[in-house]
Amino acid sequence: MVPTFTGALCMGKLEGKVAIVTGSSKGIGAGIAERLAADGAKVIINYSRSVEDANRVVKRIVDAGGEAIAFKADISHPADIGPLIDSAVQAFGRLDILVNNAGVYKADSLDELSADSFDEHFNLNVRGLLLTTQAAARVMNAGSVIVNISSGLAHSPYPQVHVYCATKGAVNTLTRSLGMELGPRGIRVMGIAPGFVHTEGNAESARGMDEFFIAKTPLGRVGKPQDIAAAVAYAVSEDAGWVTGTTLDVSGGMTF
Ligand SMILES: NC(=O)c1ccc[n+]([C@@H]2O[C@H](COP(=O)([O-])OP(=O)(O)OC[C@H]3O[C@@H](n4cnc5c(N)ncnc54)[C@H](OP(=O)(O)O)[C@@H]3O)[C@@H](O)[C@H]2O)c1
Repeated sequence: MVPTFTGALCMGKLEGKVAIVTGSSKGIGAGIAERLAADGAKVIINYSRSVEDANRVVKRIVDAGGEAIAFKADISHPADIGPLIDSAVQAFGRLDILVNNAGVYKADSLDELSADSFDEHFNLNVRGLLLTTQAAARVMNAGSVIVNISSGLAHSPYPQVHVYCATKGAVNTLTRSLGMELGPRGIRVMGIAPGFVHTEGNAESARGMDEFFIAKTPLGRVGKPQDIAAAVAYAVSEDAGWVTGTTLDVSGGMTF
């Protein structure tokens, strides 16, 4: 039995829904988890390394009156995925929303890229997303929603980042094909493609690059996790009830 931590009762449009957000102990995933919890969902905060980071997100949600638990599962390890899905059903009795957010980003120029780096990216960003969706779909009912976090780099790639861009191209294709397969069951699949967002994950690699990204962004600023969380809130809402298989760009209009 997974222990749960409950704050004060929370009323919102996702009341009664249960969500898993992969990779939600930091960055965009944490922003999404906090938004879904604020809208009333009970949320599984997934992480692969730092339980302290995950517990900080759980505490913020509980302090704000929501419900959440932390659950360790490395999405690039297929054996970890079943227990993650089971954790939602055990703790909260159901699963209505899966946000496939966990992802790895590394610069890989043609000169630098390696088979190991290729496997690391594809095992998490693509295989992990697909196997997590497979396991989630087995317990989801009609009305459930799967959201895949892609990247603007899928359709506007950058040459020093070949492998990562290719993984996100694959994610967009999977959003389309999974939407086709799961639509007849009443399960929607939507992609969200962020532009450049300040997170713990890119704090080092993108240090000093704000001006570069802002120059490519018509809306003239870098993104915040809350910008992406707002789009996920739309994707899982009834307002998006006739939307599936498509990826929404949430990037301030950024192109390269
Ligand atoms: N930031 C951007 O500018 C940007 C732009 C476009 C798209 N994206 C996409 O948005 C998503 C989140 O990016 P981010 O910048 O927020 O990342 P981040 O700050 O690096 O956070 C990554 C999160 O995923 C978890 N994680 C890492 N590897 C994992 C694994 N194998 N299994 C389970 N959890 C794992 C991390 O926790 P642990 O370290 O404890 O495992 C952490 O909670 C990614 O899919 C990324 O490609 C980001």
